[in-house]
Amino acid sequence: MTTQSALGIDIGGTGIKAAPVDLTTGQLLTEPHYFPTQPSSPDMIARAIRGIVTNLNWRGPIGCGYPGVIKNGVALTAVHLSKEWLGLNVGEVLGRQVGREVAAINDADAAGVAELRFGAGKDCGPEDIVLMLTLGTGIGSALFAGRTLVPNTEFGHVYIESTEAEELAAASVRTRDELSWEAWGQRVNRYLAEMEKLLSPDLIIIGGGVSENFELFQPFLSTRPPVFPAMLGNNAGIVGAALWAVERK
Ligand code: BGC
Repeated sequence: MTTQSALGIDIGGTGIKAAPVDLTTGQLLTEPHYFPTQPSSPDMIARAIRGIVTNLNWRGPIGCGYPGVIKNGVALTAVHLSKEWLGLNVGEVLGRQVGREVAAINDADAAGVAELRFGAGKDCGPEDIVLMLTLGTGIGSALFAGRTLVPNTEFGHVYIESTEAEELAAASVRTRDELSWEAWGQRVNRYLAEMEKLLSPDLIIIGGGVSENFELFQPFLSTRPPVFPAMLGNNAGIVGAALWAVERK
């Protein structure tokens, strides 16, 4: 028998979202539970997640997206989180609180996995290079070659004319600096042009909360490959984390 549902958790730089997901359709089975990431120490986040698991009385598989590099389960970076995460096995830290195994994956990789399965990348062919970029507090990336994930790409940290991409084009920068959609869209376009130059993708998927406002900045994008908004919107990370709980390699 295959597992039909899993709890997906998405730890973001600003908030943590979680919901049970139907793994056959990619639909959330409840509205996402949300709480702020701050304070972002391992202990505080693990306790908050335990609260959700207890609340839902969840007994099935659990997957979690983490906003940094995850290598063999261990957090190697923590740009927008407490540095206490560095070197910790994320699944183990969370698993100790919730009393069961938790599978951890980079948050943008999770969003990409979900979009390839159920969303904007579902019809991609075996030869296609697909780049997913999540524009949120920071910028996350997921790269797929022939539908296979190349994990832990960190394209939010490339430099464009001496400015880090996250500092140029994250969604948080638009609100922080009160940029118009046009001014910000042009920045995103510069960033995408650089990614196109480096990777020659066949498709670019834009995720994060801004995917819901895609039509406001799409007019300023001029890359050769098509650019689509994440079809699962800001829930892609939750759905991908849930898939990871049962499908991780
Ligand atoms: C981190 C990435 C993460 C992204 C989005 C970046 O600062 O380095 O690992 O995917 O933020 O959360």
